[in-house]
Amino acid sequence: MKLQHARILLTGATGGLGSELAKQLTEAGATLLLAGRNAERLTALQTSLGGRTAVVGADLTQADGIATVAHAAREFGANVLINNAGASLFGLLENQEWAAIEQVLATSLEAPIRLTHALLPWLKAQPEAVVVNIGSTFGSLPFAGFAAYSAAKAGLRGFSQALRRELADTRVAVVHIAPRSIDTPMNSAAVTALNRALNSQSDSAADVACEIVTALVRNDRELHIGFPERFFAWLNGIAPGLIDRSLAGKLPIIKQHAAGR
Ligand SMILES: NC(=O)c1ccc[n+]([C@@H]2O[C@H](COP(=O)([O-])OP(=O)(O)OC[C@H]3O[C@@H](n4cnc5c(N)ncnc54)[C@H](OP(=O)(O)O)[C@@H]3O)[C@@H](O)[C@H]2O)c1
Repeated sequence: MKLQHARILLTGATGGLGSELAKQLTEAGATLLLAGRNAERLTALQTSLGGRTAVVGADLTQADGIATVAHAAREFGANVLINNAGASLFGLLENQEWAAIEQVLATSLEAPIRLTHALLPWLKAQPEAVVVNIGSTFGSLPFAGFAAYSAAKAGLRGFSQALRRELADTRVAVVHIAPRSIDTPMNSAAVTALNRALNSQSDSAADVACEIVTALVRNDRELHIGFPERFFAWLNGIAPGLIDRSLAGKLPIIKQHAAGR
């Protein structure tokens, strides 16, 4: 896609990856509608990006928030939807409050589906349109300590692929991006310490945003960022027992960090 023709609704624009995406997409010639919950952070981002951006504030876990953002996107003339907003949760499932689990599922799975559903008739009427879903390696390589988040991201991967196949005879493309860990505020100190203990690599938000922008320009439909994570995700698809055994060996370390010790 030519980004000069792109009018992009970007959710989670104020976050670590979102603000880098906003910067790089604007530099590449796209026009952005920035969505988030925090009005002050949205305005600060808008100011830092210069004149070509618009903002909309809403909580995407609420039905009226979805309606507000969808309305703003139609007024703005969006032809690209980037479902980037997300929430994660690290810890053992049995120790987590249901409200926190529900928040992860509502933000990382339900909201992208609802927003896409609300905007699909509009997007289908555009000469060219793209839905980009920001997933995670954990969507193909579900990880101990991240059960709800892995479930949400695996669901988002399934949604992306099913919708892409459903829209194959339309002008709407569906893109699924699966980054490995990124250095952003989403990762708590415990997650950062776990990554270090497991020797898991983390990418900068700038590098991940650059790969996403390149994928959009190249019309890629699937992008899994990071090696060996990409290989292990593939292996999990054909031999999950091997991954079960490998992760069982890491479980004491994961439990130790989940307990904050
Ligand atoms: N960080 C990683 O290691 C990593 C790895 C792979 C994939 N990802 C994915 O990358 C995407 C961006 O994550 P990030 O690392 O940039 O996270 P982040 O820094 O925590 O930013 C999250 C963004 O989502 C927005 N958001 C959260 N809950 C919302 C809600 N209920 N309604 C509307 N907006 C909401 C936040 O807006 P507010 O300003 O309102 O809080 C913020 O802009 C997510 O989908 C995440 O799952 C992250």
